[in-house]
Amino acid sequence: MRASSLAAALFAFLALVGSTSASDPDLLQDVCVADLNSTVKVNGFPCKAQFNATDFFSNLLVKPGNTSNAQGSIVTAANVLRFPGLNTLGVSISRIDYAPGGQNPPHTHPRATEIVFVLYGELDVGFITTANVLVAKTIKPGEVFVFPRGLVHFQRNNGNVPAAVVAAFNSQLPGTQTIANTLFGATPPVPDNVLATAFQVGIQEVQFVKSKFAPK
Ligand SMILES: *[C@@H]1O[C@H](CO)[C@@H](O)[C@H](O)[C@H]1NC(C)=O
Ligand SMILES: *[C@@H]1O[C@H](CO)[C@@H](O)[C@H](O)[C@H]1NC(C)=O
Ligand SMILES: *[C@@H]1O[C@H](CO)[C@@H](O)[C@H](O)[C@H]1NC(C)=O
Repeated sequence: MRASSLAAALFAFLALVGSTSASDPDLLQDVCVADLNSTVKVNGFPCKAQFNATDFFSNLLVKPGNTSNAQGSIVTAANVLRFPGLNTLGVSISRIDYAPGGQNPPHTHPRATEIVFVLYGELDVGFITTANVLVAKTIKPGEVFVFPRGLVHFQRNNGNVPAAVVAAFNSQLPGTQTIANTLFGATPPVPDNVLATAFQVGIQEVQFVKSKFAPK
């Protein structure tokens, strides 16, 4: 099961890479391993002068992450910031672990489409279109679901056992904006009156929600 799961995840990943036009810029050379410490600012990262196989390898996703948090889920991201060989290649990969009842709360990736492959467990997943239509489904081990670039989406484990997915992205650094945290946990804060009018609630309700997302 494990080997075939991984093979299917790889297939899904390659299908994503091959069948969409990359949202990251095309590459101009074979490799450009990110020099994460460079003081030069470019779109992406400058290339390191020397590289070897270690730069193109990651074991970040081997172990399940710790899901003991308020949402009951954890995203472990192998993006260019932790996997420098991805620089200029237009792809990245994560694993997401979910406790029973845990969820990856509504969020968007401004720079990537995401495709998830279920390793184990069962998840209720969905995205919302710009016409405010919820597109949702329950997915099981070996099944795949895709979240179009930029659209708000979520996954929830309504089962009573842990769940996990592999998520592939057509960007080396998809970026994540988690809606609740973005609006209620920004620094400096979004003004209370902006949120009160937006959500049609009182200032006190806004402050209550803000207290849950106070920057650490
Ligand atoms: C970047 O600098 C940090 C210390 O600031 C060092 O630990 C790390 O190894 C450096 N990384 C690279 C790729 O040179
Ligand atoms: C790759 O280079 C790094 C130093 O940049 C070194 O620590 C590592 O052992 C090398 N790996 C291989 C497989 O040669
Ligand atoms: C998981 O995280 C919680 C909360 O931070 C911590 O108490 C617990 O020790 C962690 N568990 C493991 C196995 O690291």
